[in-house]
Amino acid sequence: MRVTVFGIGYVGLVQAAVLAEVGHDVVCVDVNVERVENLKKGIIPIYEPGLTPLVQRNFDAGRLQFTTDAELGVKHGRIQFIAVGTPPDEDGSADLQYVLAVAKTIATYMVTPKIIVDKSTVPVGTADKVGACVSTVLKERGLDLGFDVVSNPEFLKEGAAVADCQRPDRIVIGTDSPAVESKMRELYAPFNRNHEKLIVMDVRSAELTKYAANCMLATKISFMNEMANLAEKLGADIEKVRQGIGSDPRIGYHFIYPGCGYGGSCFPKDVQALVRTAEKVGYVPELLKSVEAVNSRQKEKLFTHIQAYFGGDLLGKKIALWGLSFKPNTDDMRDASSRVLMESLWAAGAVVQAYDPEAMNEAQRIYGTRSDLTLMGTKESALNAADALVVCTEWNAFKAPDFDLVKERLSHAVIFDGRNLYDPAMLEQQGIAYYGIGRGRSVLSFS
Ligand code: NAD
Ligand code: UDX
Repeated sequence: MRVTVFGIGYVGLVQAAVLAEVGHDVVCVDVNVERVENLKKGIIPIYEPGLTPLVQRNFDAGRLQFTTDAELGVKHGRIQFIAVGTPPDEDGSADLQYVLAVAKTIATYMVTPKIIVDKSTVPVGTADKVGACVSTVLKERGLDLGFDVVSNPEFLKEGAAVADCQRPDRIVIGTDSPAVESKMRELYAPFNRNHEKLIVMDVRSAELTKYAANCMLATKISFMNEMANLAEKLGADIEKVRQGIGSDPRIGYHFIYPGCGYGGSCFPKDVQALVRTAEKVGYVPELLKSVEAVNSRQKEKLFTHIQAYFGGDLLGKKIALWGLSFKPNTDDMRDASSRVLMESLWAAGAVVQAYDPEAMNEAQRIYGTRSDLTLMGTKESALNAADALVVCTEWNAFKAPDFDLVKERLSHAVIFDGRNLYDPAMLEQQGIAYYGIGRGRSVLSFS
């Protein structure tokens, strides 16, 4: 099938490449000229395991094209995906300007009927807005062309995006039209072979499904972070508690890892956006507001521990930081906990020596050259003459460090572990002070 994807970011690029791989003929359109030119040269704009060869192979085979020519893109696909960003606006609502700009573009150039697919995460009612926008432009053009707007939210996780798109748990399709459902079934047939993965529903329910999924997962994390904070006060170890509750299949082991807060381009903005959606219809979403509040507080946790350890005086302290990305296997630093930590450290007069396996260019892009941040080439060099080590991201490379070397290089043998990677008892034996998240009596009482 001929498919067009607007927006060549984490979602659009991965989705396009995965569709091309199964034989669809995909044109990707983006307004970012540099991104498009780089992709044509084989330079992939994001780090995502398995993505580079997938894109290259399909580009070379001519099944995957990149362009800034929106007219060409609109004319190409019967199916037009909208996969552009929906960042928070000033009050936390999803900003639909990019989605509606694409809708307008499609309406401006279409000369045959189109199926317009909202792949971006958008509030309930957005398909109606997209439809209204397309109708208005078509009317201005004096055309009476058929079109449908479908909600098809994306559930991929960064760091596993290719695998998630190739083997989705489910494919949610929001449409009331049997003809559109049939086209979407044809599109996704290669991903729907072994058992039925398509869940077809009305558009509004599909739009809400995406927010409900992300908010449920964020809720699990904030709940565990609340338990971790309690464990710290009560002298319990949250890691033991996690195992104890996860073994109940009704709870499960997924998404109950406590830590220094959830980040990324989805959970923070989607929880906020659903809160705003609820408020706009006169509902007070107490639980969601608390999920957000607990997470904001959690992102300050490491700083609070570090500050307490150094008696409130961080002026001139050098902090080694392992992990800048919001999670492992990605270079994405959107809403990363590392950023909240670094900004608090800088405000307190500390300097940071940071290392991340993939996010160094992104850190450079965001922070440029500033005297209180040094990006180091290795995790070992980040330790040089530092006063403490802080771990913000659970990259594999950080899971079994040479603790003798850590001790030797740090001027204070202390680790603040935002992802509970290490065994407190083992570090105590090595003579390294250790502060995890919710690790009971191994954590100093700072009050
Ligand atoms: P992104 O910022 O990585 O990419 C968006 C792309 O859209 C950019 O390349 C931008 O230049 C392009 N763009 C903006 N306006 C455009 C226009 N008018 N025409 C063509 N291209 C345009 O965004 P993302 O992370 O891929 O997220 C896209 C959407 O998918 C968001 O709604 C997000 O919430 C949702 N989502 C993201 C993830 C994720 O893990 N990143 C997962 C599921 C859903
Ligand atoms: C999320 C959803 O998982 C995905 O389905 C959706 O499409 C996009 O948003 P992503 O943001 O890529 O994916 O990463 P995810 O693995 O969900 O992690 C999000 C954040 O939660 C990270 O900062 C991670 O460190 C944190 N997290 C995750 C925890 O703190 N504890 C956990 O148990 C799991």
